[in-house]
Amino acid sequence: MTRDYIIAPSILSADFARLGDEVKNLLAAGADWIHFDVMDNHYVPNLTFGPMICQAIKPHATKPDGSKALMDVHLMVEPVDALAESFAAAGADLISFHPDASRHVHRSIQAIKSKGCQVGLVFNPASELDVLDWVIEDIDLIMLMSVNPGFGGQSFIDSTLRKLEVVRKCIDASGKKIHLEVDGGIKPENIRRVADAGADAFVAGSAIFGKPDYKTVIDSMRAALK
Ligand code: DX5
Ligand code: ZN
Repeated sequence: MTRDYIIAPSILSADFARLGDEVKNLLAAGADWIHFDVMDNHYVPNLTFGPMICQAIKPHATKPDGSKALMDVHLMVEPVDALAESFAAAGADLISFHPDASRHVHRSIQAIKSKGCQVGLVFNPASELDVLDWVIEDIDLIMLMSVNPGFGGQSFIDSTLRKLEVVRKCIDASGKKIHLEVDGGIKPENIRRVADAGADAFVAGSAIFGKPDYKTVIDSMRAALK
């Protein structure tokens, strides 16, 4: 099965003192999406950034061909709705949230879509998938955490592969074009296995940032996906 694979670097591991340049360099290196890991030190034990950063980055998120890079906002926050609305206003193109962080998942999905954004649900390593039974027709993306949310630089949790196979079957049965994104511990060495299990979008932070050349890493990921 050949898919259009998406590389979505997470700016969580970027040099925050040079964030605009980092985003430009990522896109020049061939990244498809910019992944924003939003953490509130409540839903997860870490605190990152708010909508203003998304707003500041948006004008710089242009690919070498002049097209706009998708702003992929991952909300690790509770509650969800108010921040989702603020990120939509700040230029997010896709907003994903953890269903266990919203009292009313279907309403949160509706609210995000009403702002013209694509919407996704994010599942932690031990989270059940049953909420998908009732909302899979309403979403554009499903993301599986392959680490416990909160920090970059962790190791890939192997049970995610089995979970990916289950979700891929659900997506194919729905007949809808839904992205299946994986977030955490993605490296050039394991990305092929993750793709074979059914993923088509890959979040990577520490595999890319801190390396001398972003294009070498992204090219090696794409080569592994061929
Ligand atoms: C966890 C974060 C990380 C990050 C990717 O909450 O969401 O998974 O995006 O970090 P790496 O690629 O360093 O595991
Ligand atoms: Zn993320």
